[in-house]
Amino acid sequence: MDKFSRTVVFSCVMLISICVPSSLAQTCRSYNFSSNQVFSTCSDLPVLSSFIYWNYHPSNQTADIAFRKSGASTTNWYVWSLNPTGQGMAGSQALLAFHNSSGLPTAYTTPIRDLSPSMQKGDLSFPVSKLKAEYSSGEMIIFATLHLTNSLISTNQVWQEGAMSGNNFNIHSMDSANKASVGNINFATGTTVAGTAQTSSKKNVHGVLNAVSWGVLMPMGIMIARYLKVFKVANPAWFYLHVTCQSSAYIIGVAGWGTGLNLGSDSTGIEYSKHRNIGIILFCFATLQVFALLLRPKPDHKYRLYWNIYHHSIGYATIALSIINIYEGFDILDPEKKWEKIYTGIIIFLGAVAALLEVLTWIIVIRRKKTVNFNKHANGTNGTNGYGA
Ligand SMILES: *[C@@H]1O[C@H](CO)[C@@H](O)[C@H](O)[C@H]1NC(C)=O
Ligand SMILES: *[C@@H]1O[C@H](CO)[C@@H](O)[C@H](O)[C@H]1NC(C)=O
Ligand SMILES: *[C@@H]1O[C@H](CO)[C@@H](O)[C@H](O)[C@H]1NC(C)=O
Repeated sequence: MDKFSRTVVFSCVMLISICVPSSLAQTCRSYNFSSNQVFSTCSDLPVLSSFIYWNYHPSNQTADIAFRKSGASTTNWYVWSLNPTGQGMAGSQALLAFHNSSGLPTAYTTPIRDLSPSMQKGDLSFPVSKLKAEYSSGEMIIFATLHLTNSLISTNQVWQEGAMSGNNFNIHSMDSANKASVGNINFATGTTVAGTAQTSSKKNVHGVLNAVSWGVLMPMGIMIARYLKVFKVANPAWFYLHVTCQSSAYIIGVAGWGTGLNLGSDSTGIEYSKHRNIGIILFCFATLQVFALLLRPKPDHKYRLYWNIYHHSIGYATIALSIINIYEGFDILDPEKKWEKIYTGIIIFLGAVAALLEVLTWIIVIRRKKTVNFNKHANGTNGTNGYGA
C-alpha cells in the first residue's frame, strides 16, 4: 500500500472506531434492569466494561442515573463520578459501590480531593438522592438521582475500579484502561465523548519538555562550566558550550513552562499550587540567569567576584528546585512508574559523573597550584585563566 491509501484506511478506521460505539453498536441498550426501570439515554463507556444510563429532567435539573459494570467482582470497589474541576480522579465527586463486611452491595458518596483518597463517606458538591448499589451475576449497578447545576449539565465523568483488602480500598491499577476511563458527559443532549487524548498528550509534552530542559540539560550545562573549565585546552570552548546548553535549555524550558500554564488554566478549580509556584520561581531564576549573562562584568572587574557568587547560587538553586519540581510533576501527572525510574537513573548518573569530576578537578587544581607556585618562583608568570566564571 502506498502512503496515501494507508492514510485513507487509517482515517476510516479511526472514524469508524469513533462513531460506532456511540451510535450503532450500543450494547447498553440490550440490557434490561431487574426493576424494569427504563432509561432514555445510555452510553457504552470505552473501557472497563462499563455503561452509563440516565433520564434527564430539564424542569428540575435532575438526572436519574444508573452506572453498570459488567463482570464485576464482589471483592472490588467501583466508582463513577463527575469531575467538574478537571480530568482524572482528583477533584471527582464520586459514587462508590462495594461489598461491605456483611457481604452486601452498598453505596455512598465520597468527594475525592487528592491522588491518594481515603474514600471516606462525605457529601458531594451537589446533592445526590436515591443512591443504592445492586449486584447480581457479575453486574454491579449504582443507581442515583443527581441534582445538577448549570455547570454540571456538561462535565467530565470518571469511572474507576480497584481491589479491596478487607475494609480497605486499594489504589486502582495504572493500566491503560484505568487511565482512559475519563470523558465528557452531557446530560441534556445525551452525548458522551470518550477520552482526553488531547489533554493527556499535552501533559506528556509538558512532562517531556520540562524534564529534558530543566531536569537534564541545565544540570549538564552547569557540569560543563564547572568541570571543563579546569582544562586549559577547553578554554574558551567550555564557555560557549555552557551558554549554548543553557540557552537551549532555557528556550525548551520556557516552552515547557508555557504548556504548564496552559494545563493549569484547563483544569480550573483544581490547583497544584506547590508545583505551579516552584515553576514560577524557576522561570524567574532562569530569566535572571539569561540577563546575568548580558550584564557580566569583565573577568578582572572588581564586581566580577560578586557576579560569580550571584550567578552560581542562582544556578545551583535553579537545579535543586527543578529536580524537586520534576518529582512534584511525576506525582501529579502520574505517568507509568518507569518514567520516574528512568529520570531517577539519569539524575543518579549525572550525580555520579559530577562527583567523579569534582574529585578529578580538585586533583588537577591542587597539582596546578603547585606548578604555578613553582613557576612563579622561577620566572614570575602566573597561570590564572581569563574566563574563570
Ligand atoms: C429485554 O426486554 C425486551 C422486552 O421486554 C426483550 O425483547 C429483550 O429480549 C430483553 N433483553 C434481554 C437481554 O433480556
Ligand atoms: C424532576 O422532574 C421529573 C419530571 O419532570 C419528576 O419525575 C421527578 O420526580 C423530579 N425529581 C425531583 C427530585 O424532584
Ligand atoms: C452492609 O450494607 C447493607 C446495605 O447497604 C447494610 O444494610 C448493612 O448494614 C451493611 N453492613 C455493614 C457491616 O456495614
